[in-house]
Amino acid sequence: TTGMVTLDPGYTNTGSTTSAITYIDGDAGILRYRGYPIEQLAESSSFLEVSYLLIYGELPTAEQLDAWVSRISRHTLLHEDLKRFFDGFPRDAHPMPVLSSAVSALSTFYQDSLDPFVAEQVELSTVRLLAKLPTIAAYSHRKTMGQPLLYPDNSLGLVENFLRMSFGFPVEPYEIDPKLVKALDLLLILHADHEQNCSTSTVRLVGSAHANLFVSVAAGINALFGPLHGGANEAVLQMLGGIRDSGGDIATFVRRVKDKEPGVKLMGFGHRVYKNYDPRAAIVKRTADSILADLGGDDQLLDLAKQLEEVALSDDYFIERKLYPNVDFYTGLIYKAMGFPSRMFTVLFALGRLPGWIAQWREMINDPATKIGRPRQVYTGHGERAFVPVGER
Ligand code: SDX
Repeated sequence: TTGMVTLDPGYTNTGSTTSAITYIDGDAGILRYRGYPIEQLAESSSFLEVSYLLIYGELPTAEQLDAWVSRISRHTLLHEDLKRFFDGFPRDAHPMPVLSSAVSALSTFYQDSLDPFVAEQVELSTVRLLAKLPTIAAYSHRKTMGQPLLYPDNSLGLVENFLRMSFGFPVEPYEIDPKLVKALDLLLILHADHEQNCSTSTVRLVGSAHANLFVSVAAGINALFGPLHGGANEAVLQMLGGIRDSGGDIATFVRRVKDKEPGVKLMGFGHRVYKNYDPRAAIVKRTADSILADLGGDDQLLDLAKQLEEVALSDDYFIERKLYPNVDFYTGLIYKAMGFPSRMFTVLFALGRLPGWIAQWREMINDPATKIGRPRQVYTGHGERAFVPVGER
């Protein structure tokens, strides 16, 4: 009994899982991390504090938070041989496969933290991933820009460091913009976990074979790359850009969606669980105006997004199908205003989702009852038949 649900003594895991980390009520539009409403965490917490909450189950005391932040800040460097890894990718490589390759490669450089059943090794791989993913993400961005890789500066916080490695140059000091830091920290909190979504289920499934945390998270990054999942934030910007290029003809675009033209969806809309407004999208929308005003974002695309939302929310086609904006609908506009190219949007999603992946992997490793059992199937193929030699076919 968890105070929320009482499991029958004979409860067995058949393809779904139990978890004590994140609670979603799709109809009511509720999202809570370890019981805390996302609205309160977005308002008052920080990304590293939320990461601690998701992984350890409780909000840290001041000294626990200091120790956590300080420990993570000491692991931001990549092994020099791993840094060379980025030279091997083509200049126009999409940063997501670069990210998953580099994260997988962490398990070759840090072999002293691979055993899922040795607590110190799990702690070490947890801290190394949280500390090094921002460095890897910044490098995957710099690679595509043909710009030099900057070493992390451990006197900076995680988000400041990431922004400096992404946008700074070795020849001049990088001016930290507190508005940018606050906006990105908020978006990372909103993406930190989301129960058994596609990428998290992937991390749990790979980890259920007792694969180490690095390669399990690399698998999750690959799942997130899909345009129906994390790749949607990049697809929303392409969709809005296409509508703008057509002269802002929203009515024609909506008709094409309703006609189910192949490949034409209202990206950033709909959700497997939320059949109401995604509470994260509501928070992003509420802050988008002020963030874009601060950062000088593309107001034309924001206005277009708002008009598109207004049209969709008043159209029976979308209402009947319970299609509302999800977390990806507005976030890309903010990432763009921050200066990131659209190919980096899903990398930013992965940065935010990392503590959730880690927390869910650890929960599954520590409690096999929360393991997603081996998925079964309903067989729809041929019945038994005898082999026919090739000359007689
Ligand atoms: C994320 O699971 C998570 O928690 C994911 C996530 C997280 O934090 O990890 O929240 C992050 O992945 C958010 C979703 C981002 N993806 C997109 O925005 C891509 C566009 N959305 C769709 O592909 C779709 O809405 C899904 C995949 C997200 C959810 O699909 P569902 O709920 O399974 O709905 P469905 O595919 O069964 O469709 C139901 C109906 C269909 O029409 P009919 O066949 O009944 O006529 O709704 C239609 C669909 O065609 N539909 C859409 C639509 N989404 C569903 N029509 C137009 N545009 C859309 N976006």
